[in-house]
Amino acid sequence: MTLEARGADRQERVELRELAQRHLSPVMTRVTDLVVRRAHGAKFWTTDGREYLDFVSGVAVNAVGHTHPEVVRAIQQQSEQLIHLGLNYGYYESVVRLATKLAAVTPGELDTVFFSNSGAEAIDGAIKLARAATGRPSVVAFEGSFHGRTVGAMSLTASSAKYRKSYEPLMGGVYHVPYPYVRLFKGMTEQQVVEHCLRSLEQLFLLRVDPSQVAAVIIEPVLGEGGYVPAPIDFIRRLRQMTAEHGILLVFDEVQTGFGRTGKMFAAEHSGVVPDILVAAKALSGGMPLGAVIAPRSLHDKWQVGSHGSTFGGNPVSCAAACASLSIIERDGLVERSAVLGRQVLARLCERVGHLPTVAEIRGLGLMIGIEFQDEHGDPGTRIVSRIRDEALQGGLLVTNCGAYGQTIRLMPPLNIPEEDLDRGLSILERAILNVASRSCKGEVS
Ligand SMILES: Cc1ncc(COP(=O)(O)O)c(C=O)c1O
Repeated sequence: MTLEARGADRQERVELRELAQRHLSPVMTRVTDLVVRRAHGAKFWTTDGREYLDFVSGVAVNAVGHTHPEVVRAIQQQSEQLIHLGLNYGYYESVVRLATKLAAVTPGELDTVFFSNSGAEAIDGAIKLARAATGRPSVVAFEGSFHGRTVGAMSLTASSAKYRKSYEPLMGGVYHVPYPYVRLFKGMTEQQVVEHCLRSLEQLFLLRVDPSQVAAVIIEPVLGEGGYVPAPIDFIRRLRQMTAEHGILLVFDEVQTGFGRTGKMFAAEHSGVVPDILVAAKALSGGMPLGAVIAPRSLHDKWQVGSHGSTFGGNPVSCAAACASLSIIERDGLVERSAVLGRQVLARLCERVGHLPTVAEIRGLGLMIGIEFQDEHGDPGTRIVSRIRDEALQGGLLVTNCGAYGQTIRLMPPLNIPEEDLDRGLSILERAILNVASRSCKGEVS
């Protein structure tokens, strides 16, 4: 590139950044100021020509990587035929094929789909379906959970007070009980934590809301935003029993865990528990906006016609992208690959950085892996994590964090990430962790 071209590029970058800062709402947390030109596979390139490895995947969206050629082709072909009609006004192939496919890949009798545009909207849809089908008003969710930012979904969200702070009063009839995040219950075994959390639910039913008034219990089988924490299998199974005994619908929020992320097509499969409603989004549709409320026909039949809907839900292009993405996941064995690579990554991280006193825990299922950090007092390692994130970015790797204190680095690379990219990304991360850890030992991370 000539000096002149480089100068013009720089000018464009500065201009774009300035315009962005002037005209885009500052309300969204800004993780980087990079100006990105294009992306492919597990990489993206900024306008200054730098290459980055992407272990965020648009927050667990790009399961098949950026701009997968088959997803791109599906989007191109569909958009030449039909971009939007409105699902009220006719059936079209991509939405019907996708609903049929989802009925086949989800567990049990989950055979009927309502499509929305996003995860939060699908969660709202699930709340409405549960209330309408049971005639009961209340919903129970878990501390630490993240279900989205619409008023309904936000009312269930309890992963950080900042998401709710300015918006009270929220939707009524919502109760929260502790999630079995075992590490947080210092000194207790996993089984003791399971018993404690189930008892908290029983106490809720005894003291605050009669179970006959509860429409649904909603849970992320692996806590996402709240810290990348898989719930113990025994907990999920007994939750299934408890909810069934009281006629309460069990809703799995698989917005982040769905489509192979945890090494199974859906995280539900780890416990063998079939929820009454499964909510999906993110990796469903190869980067296009789409959400899904999936439940048995018998439940959907209790939802009064016309009492829910969406202008864009089930958009033809999003559905075509989703069909392509799902075919790739199945054909290329990406669910199994996620399980195998996930185990390798866990073992490698445990070996290379697991011994560091700043590393509190390394955990995960499939390619949904969290590394939790602590400071020298055993308190959440918030600053350590932000240094690691910055240092990794300087080294050419995008990672992000989660947990109430932002104390956990979460890894969610594409499920088809080439092994050499995975290896290089992990090396950058390990170097950043080792550097920051050695500075933190000397008291240099403040
Ligand atoms: C588990 C879970 N549920 C719901 C949502 C909300 O999805 P969306 O951002 O598409 O509204 C998210 C988003 O991060 C999520 O991780």
